[in-house]
Amino acid sequence: MKKLENEAKRVLLKNWKDGFSVPCANLYPFQWKWDSGFIAIGFAHFDMDKAEKEIATLLAAQWDNGFIPHIVFHTESDTYFPGPDFHQSELHPQSSKTYKSTGMTQPPVTGFVLEEMYNISTNKTATLAYINSMIDKVYHNHTYFYENRDPNNEGLVYIYHNWESGTDNSPIWDDIFATMNPPHYEFKRRDTTHVDASERPTNREYDHYLHIINIAKEHNYSDEKIAELSPFLVQDPLFNTMLIKSNEALINLYKLIGGNVDKIAQLTQWNTKAVHSMNTKLYDKDLKVYVHYDLRNEKPIPFITSSSFSPIFANIATTPEQVKGLVDVMLDKFGGEDMYLCASFDPTNELFNPKKYWRGPVWVNLNWMLYRGLRKYGYNEVADRVKNDTLEIVEKSGFYEYFDARKSVHLTDKAGYGGGDFSWTAALLIDLLQNKI
Ligand code: DGY
Repeated sequence: MKKLENEAKRVLLKNWKDGFSVPCANLYPFQWKWDSGFIAIGFAHFDMDKAEKEIATLLAAQWDNGFIPHIVFHTESDTYFPGPDFHQSELHPQSSKTYKSTGMTQPPVTGFVLEEMYNISTNKTATLAYINSMIDKVYHNHTYFYENRDPNNEGLVYIYHNWESGTDNSPIWDDIFATMNPPHYEFKRRDTTHVDASERPTNREYDHYLHIINIAKEHNYSDEKIAELSPFLVQDPLFNTMLIKSNEALINLYKLIGGNVDKIAQLTQWNTKAVHSMNTKLYDKDLKVYVHYDLRNEKPIPFITSSSFSPIFANIATTPEQVKGLVDVMLDKFGGEDMYLCASFDPTNELFNPKKYWRGPVWVNLNWMLYRGLRKYGYNEVADRVKNDTLEIVEKSGFYEYFDARKSVHLTDKAGYGGGDFSWTAALLIDLLQNKI
């Protein structure tokens, strides 16, 4: 395992670009928001300075309204589409004047990442001083979310693009895309020059992705207009879980820092409402898991995905029966003997595709969250299985972006897909090996 850990460190150092990390070479040549967070957790174990810079660089690209973009375009690169010229973040009057970025965001990891960094740190005083210099920016980001993305005042924020979810081409979005009929755009994909097209979204899917961005651009990325007009408007249990977890983390960190009574009260109020709505609106009593809600078309999306179990990562599931229900569904549908935990989409559903990005493969960041949650609720055996499965697939197949969930494939074929030497796979592997949770 020491060898694997050293390999993981090599991957992180290779992808470090003097102030931030790329998720992997070529395929993703800029800084991505949720990647950055997971990467900082890995670095915190052996180079706190880089971990701190990673988050500071991300937060330096924050907009004046508190928004943090999903990609920060620090450098010129022609290996990625769509780049800064397509996204045109400068259309928004409050966007960063220093950095070009996208006009959409990604899951709010930054709060809980700061707390992880504090927990890992061997110099708590120095790390807390660093956190003190960053934390208000994260608080501002959460204020942005609740003030601009919760039109019905439910404590649940929406995402307006599948790329904001992080789970880009999950079958969850299929019915929403079926309500749209975007033009056939002329564009040159770059991702499929780096990675086998069978592992990536289709061109027609990209038409939908670009179309939503064009609608937002026509209105200069105005949140109000997006809420009114975007054909994609979803309350995502994974996204909201991470926001709730980050709210909790900010409460804990503000308490360590001292003072900040009003902010703690506000964070507590957001979380009380958010947890209530997660358990009433996003919890499906029949399926016994959390599901996405299509806010545009006002209906739940009753698919089971790894996101459906993610609320155990934060203190959201309130009764032991609810947690047992989640674990039972996970084991029953995703946990067959021939399967690694945890596929990103229900393997018993006909839309499951074991190779295609978020339509089936195992992702290390989701496993990391599930592992944490299972431990917290005392499901130690299942937690260990998730951890060991994660270590095993990386050891067998390498530091890939995502992995086949079918054990048999790892014996005979290439079973790691997408980008190679992928930063968060390396970072979270280091955490799983070092953190005695
Ligand atoms: C991509 O290009 O596939 C990214 O996931 C977008 O964030």
